Amino acid sequence: MTVPMRAASPAGLTGRTVIVTGAAGAIGDVYVRAFTATGANVVAVDLLRAARPALATTREATRTGPGRAVFAPADVTSESDWQLVVERTVAEFGSLDVLVNNAAVYRDIGRKCPLTDIVVEEWDHVFAVNVRGTWLGIRAVAPVMADLDGGAIVNVSSVVGRVGAVGFAHYVASKSAVEGLTRAAARELGGRDIRVNAIAPGLVDNAASRSLNTPAYLAGAAQARSVPRPMDADDLVGPLLWLASPASSFVTGQTVIVDGGQVFS
Ligand SMILES: NC(=O)c1ccc[n+]([C@@H]2O[C@H](COP(=O)([O-])OP(=O)(O)OC[C@H]3O[C@@H](n4cnc5c(N)ncnc54)[C@H](O)[C@@H]3O)[C@@H](O)[C@H]2O)c1
Repeated sequence: MTVPMRAASPAGLTGRTVIVTGAAGAIGDVYVRAFTATGANVVAVDLLRAARPALATTREATRTGPGRAVFAPADVTSESDWQLVVERTVAEFGSLDVLVNNAAVYRDIGRKCPLTDIVVEEWDHVFAVNVRGTWLGIRAVAPVMADLDGGAIVNVSSVVGRVGAVGFAHYVASKSAVEGLTRAAARELGGRDIRVNAIAPGLVDNAASRSLNTPAYLAGAAQARSVPRPMDADDLVGPLLWLASPASSFVTGQTVIVDGGQVFS
């Protein structure tokens, strides 16, 4: 994949070290390649079971460069895995500047389900990955970033956290929680030179969303936008790189909605 012109990167990411979680997913793959295309080095985190696609992503990202990417298998719900990821990052690249908390239970939800039928174990699993995983990531990187030169954290929310959606109550609630966590972390970490923001993507037309939504639903979502076309992961790259870079050095605690102008709030 080549990063398109509309995702042209801001200055200041060359040589930076970035952790991207959920790197083997449909969108995470694009984020890893986008960062290495700016000259940043990436630690690509995903579950061991996703090693094959994760390694394909890191190899291709390193081949096209100029940055380099390595795969670090980890479960974001695990404190000890986060410690290993941070240690590996500093050992490999000597710094830690950016964390992108992108991992989530999304495609793995598998089917839409009324909130009256969601089982407790599934609710807890969605919150464990989407919320606890995001918090543990912030908790693991913050002291290291503070000891180095500060840093930028970008959490990944979703517009459904703002407007709701039928059949995903756990996912919707988890993404609202990610936005609250973003604001809390921004307040606590700003004094240590760490900015914390979020992006809230609209419905991306990819394998994950196609497995959960009908073609008619996806077409309707596209038409409801101010810019009435399907959204792809490349549309997220420009805002993500901006939030990760020094170009947004006085922006923190914000959630940037990237959805072609469907939701204004
Ligand atoms: N696809 C969309 O339309 C859409 C819209 C809005 C927001 N988002 C958000 O964007 C992000 C990426 O979505 P996607 O479409 O690539 O989804 P995806 O399901 O394809 O990717 C999620 C990735 O997270 C990984 N993951 C799951 N549990 C993990 C754990 N415990 N530890 C480490 N990694 C784990 C999975 O293995 C997978 O590679 C998610 O946060 C999602 O909620 C997606």
